[in-house]
Amino acid sequence: MSIQENVEKNIGLLIMLVIVVISVGGLVQILPLFFQTSTTLPVEGLKPYSALQLAGRDIYIREGCVSCHSQMVRPFRAETERYGHYSTAGEFIYDRPFLWGSKRTGPDLHRVGGRYSDDWHIAHLINPRDVVPESIMPGYPWLADNDLDSSEIRQRMEGLRYLGHPYTDNEINHAEETLDGKTEMDAVVAYLQSLGTALKDI
Ligand code: HEC
Repeated sequence: MSIQENVEKNIGLLIMLVIVVISVGGLVQILPLFFQTSTTLPVEGLKPYSALQLAGRDIYIREGCVSCHSQMVRPFRAETERYGHYSTAGEFIYDRPFLWGSKRTGPDLHRVGGRYSDDWHIAHLINPRDVVPESIMPGYPWLADNDLDSSEIRQRMEGLRYLGHPYTDNEINHAEETLDGKTEMDAVVAYLQSLGTALKDI
């Protein structure tokens, strides 16, 4: 029996060899990424999310926006012409967890920061069809009515600082104050306006 036949007929051996091949392939592809500066360092000008943006990001997660919107512009011409510069690893250093998503019922949002005015976003989030008549996106009118909950923002920022986000004491101590009087809508819009702006002009 040839080696090939032997392996194909011996399912246990086949499984073992498949595991070995995938493990080695995985190590070779994944391990170097932990040591490359292009994947481990923030791009120039990238700042950690402000208290308001961070709170908005949490609401974006709560409302499930990620289930219809990706945040990952791929390096293909069709994408870069539509959205702008493709996404790079160094832009996501302060994203915990990542919100790359895998579903695009709506457009990618990674470069949406600065594309529309705050007022456009507010109108759009209250009722998307007021600004995009053919839109199938659901409205989120309660965001404008709900006061922003600031009770956990300090701990959230302290936790992120522990993980390496460069927040100053001042930013953390004043975090609650900066959320005073803001609505959930203000936070989501601040978050959207920050998306992808560090690399926008390249
Ligand atoms: C059921 C799917 C769905 C969900 C959930 C959803 N969207 Fe959308 N979104 C869309 C679609 C479809 C469009 C394109 C039509 C439009 O502009 O309304 C869109 C467009 C947008 C745009 C404009 C993008 C552009 O480049 O023109 C923004 C900003 C946006 N959505 C933000 C959000 C936010 C924030 C949430 C969560 C609060 C959310 N979306 C939830 C489907 C969705």
